[in-house]
Amino acid sequence: MSHFDQPIDRRQSDSYKWGKYAGRDILPLWVADMDFAAPPAVLAALQARLEHGVFGYGGPPPSLDAAVQAHLESEYGWHIEAEWIVWLPGLVTGLNVACRAVEGEVLTAAPIYPPFLSAPRFSGRRLNRFELGCSEEGAWHWDTTAMQAALTPASKLFLLCHPHNPVGRCWSRDELLGLADFAERHDLIVCSDEIHCGLILDAEKRHIPFASLSADAARRSITLMAPSKTFNIPGLGCAFAVIPDATLRRRFLRAMDGIVPHVNVFGFAACEAAYRDCTDWHRELIAYLRGNRDRVETAIGALPGIRMSHVEATYLAWIDVRGLQLDKPAAHFEAHGLGLSDGADFGAPGWLRLNFGCPRATLDEALHRFAAACQAA
Ligand SMILES: Cc1ncc(COP(=O)(O)O)c(C=O)c1O
Repeated sequence: MSHFDQPIDRRQSDSYKWGKYAGRDILPLWVADMDFAAPPAVLAALQARLEHGVFGYGGPPPSLDAAVQAHLESEYGWHIEAEWIVWLPGLVTGLNVACRAVEGEVLTAAPIYPPFLSAPRFSGRRLNRFELGCSEEGAWHWDTTAMQAALTPASKLFLLCHPHNPVGRCWSRDELLGLADFAERHDLIVCSDEIHCGLILDAEKRHIPFASLSADAARRSITLMAPSKTFNIPGLGCAFAVIPDATLRRRFLRAMDGIVPHVNVFGFAACEAAYRDCTDWHRELIAYLRGNRDRVETAIGALPGIRMSHVEATYLAWIDVRGLQLDKPAAHFEAHGLGLSDGADFGAPGWLRLNFGCPRATLDEALHRFAAACQAA
């Protein structure tokens, strides 16, 4: 038995995911956190920080910058300078700050994690959205014709989701080089949300930070990262941007001024331990998630009229239930005991997103309910 099989009751906790359905028999497989405890090394670091007893205003200790640098170098062969790092309480904050920092219109590809669609509006920027393409075989890709058509002369910022939530793509070097070329030709800043970069499930795939492609890509990049998804600590609110270009970094910092709070000191402690001391835990997590992913793909693949693509990265399955012809798909599945994310929020009505970051017993029950809901439609 894997320690990831161990159920942890989150019903009576502060969990946003489980609180949504408090008192109802609905398994929550919606918001993107996992039902697993954080790695032991992270728990130990938090314990040590707690025992220190003083919780004054904090900043990143020098050892943390070094841990981030070493992690990016060893995982992705990406060398960064410590001064390029801007600490943030979350990536959604980073997306919104990027929209404020870069004057002009914003380009992004849908379906997409909802804050990509709202951040431009919140920042008084026009969003030029285009749709990802999907082949007959279910392979998602950037539709370069649609991308070119969505581009306006005022477009200045591309919001990239890499790996892509919700379609689970780990963008390849060739695809990224194509995007870098597009960005260079049209002089776009690329804000690359790489929060899921530690969750590549396909053994032969590798995450390539957009900024690591070339000197030009680095110069026009804002990379957003965090240990939060991979090590399951999003409630600790610790993330960072890597911005190599000093002028762009200054603009980003200016847009944060007076609005974005300091990172919580527990977040710093957890981040350092996660990046430095959790390699084995991470390897076991990926193996477990791979098993869950395969289970989901097999179960969904057996249902007539329901389709999903192979999930290369993330613990999120993006499922096409348009064949069921439901008015309100998410509500229908809730009525059958399953809480999923509604595709409409991602710009794709008729789709659902299922979070498989949970013990296998929970997942099996969820897949059973999924099949029953399809049969009842
Ligand atoms: C692509 C992406 N970006 C950002 C976030 C949230 O980031 P944060 O909680 O750090 O604001 C998520 C969470 O699901 C996500 O999938």
